[in-house]
Amino acid sequence: MQVKEVYLDNSATTRSYPEVITEMQRVMDEEYGNASSLHRRGSRAERILNSSRQVLAEILAVKSSEIIFTSGGTESNNLAVQGIARRYRRRGNHLITTAIEHSSVLEPFNQLEKEGFEVTYLLPDNEGVISPQKVAEALTPRTVLVSIMHVNNEVGSIQPISQISAVIKTQNPGIILHVDAVQSFGKLPISPEEHGVDALSLSAHKFHGPKGVGALYLRKGILLEPLFWGGGHEKGLRPGTENTPAIAGMALAARLSFNRRKEKVPQLEFFKEKLISSVETEHPWARVNGPRRAEGAPHIFNISFPGLKGEIILHALEEYSIYVSTGSACHSNSKEPSHVLKALNLDEDSQEGAIRFSLSFLNTEEEINYAITRINSVIAGLKTFHKVTP
Ligand SMILES: Cc1ncc(COP(=O)(O)O)c(C=O)c1O
Repeated sequence: MQVKEVYLDNSATTRSYPEVITEMQRVMDEEYGNASSLHRRGSRAERILNSSRQVLAEILAVKSSEIIFTSGGTESNNLAVQGIARRYRRRGNHLITTAIEHSSVLEPFNQLEKEGFEVTYLLPDNEGVISPQKVAEALTPRTVLVSIMHVNNEVGSIQPISQISAVIKTQNPGIILHVDAVQSFGKLPISPEEHGVDALSLSAHKFHGPKGVGALYLRKGILLEPLFWGGGHEKGLRPGTENTPAIAGMALAARLSFNRRKEKVPQLEFFKEKLISSVETEHPWARVNGPRRAEGAPHIFNISFPGLKGEIILHALEEYSIYVSTGSACHSNSKEPSHVLKALNLDEDSQEGAIRFSLSFLNTEEEINYAITRINSVIAGLKTFHKVTP
């Protein structure tokens, strides 16, 4: 079979499962009621919300009353970080996060600093991991919230959430732990009860669901100040008419991903290993950034080709319909180097020549084989053209 395209930018977004598209169309067409309406159409829409909430709750092993629907990972993170910090301000004004969080966590913390909160930004080791010891050392009697991502979206490092929770709760069980699980949900096990997490963010478009919808798990008894004010939707914590088709799509994507994970996760690991070993064999001067292979997430890895520019590699691969991303996050007009690679202490050449590969449950072995051949020839060509002498 001829390979038409190889989409290896699944940390940016994933392609929706066909079943999800069909279900969303059905809900839009047949179940167009407003879940808050008192008539039958309203109740039918409400039933969709209830069953979708139940699906997410079952996967996370939590109560469905602990799930709040949002517009995605960015909103879930903002709601958790700002909502919790502001609600518990009287207890203390010290907050802890890491230097390698997604901007939807870092920016709310920057905002809170302007409101007088004191924020500690923990640095990872050079594999992108935050040690529980560092978290323990940063805790103060005024700490109210710790926010740490589960899987890093640029290098695939996995944070030891259970151990981090243990050190926090041993010191003070009242400190709230929020986890951005946007990149891990559906691929790695994460259960708030088991891992000692109080709030957890999800985003549907990272697990083959639609864009613009997500959820926040909030442990019963934990309070937060809403970001929006309006009707009483989502217990008043996130007012606004719920996006029923997208929520139904998210629940179906979550269920399908969860059911497929036992077969698909080992496949991701196999593809990742195949891609990395082939690049390393052909280009021994390339370096894998972040965690050692076996310790990173199965679907995200980052490789630097020092001497080449990531953006040039990206566009050269695009010519063969292979889609990857650079290690650097581009903020609106200015292209700043990636804050994650910087925090990993990478030299400038390695930062500039970084490429992030992110796989999904929909990639096939034919695609990976095709990508390997093209990646190796593109890199060899660029290396000769740019006279890179490692
Ligand atoms: C780790 C992480 N958190 C949060 C987000 C934001 O999610 P959304 O795109 O749904 O706003 C992303 C998206 O790239 C992410 O990778």
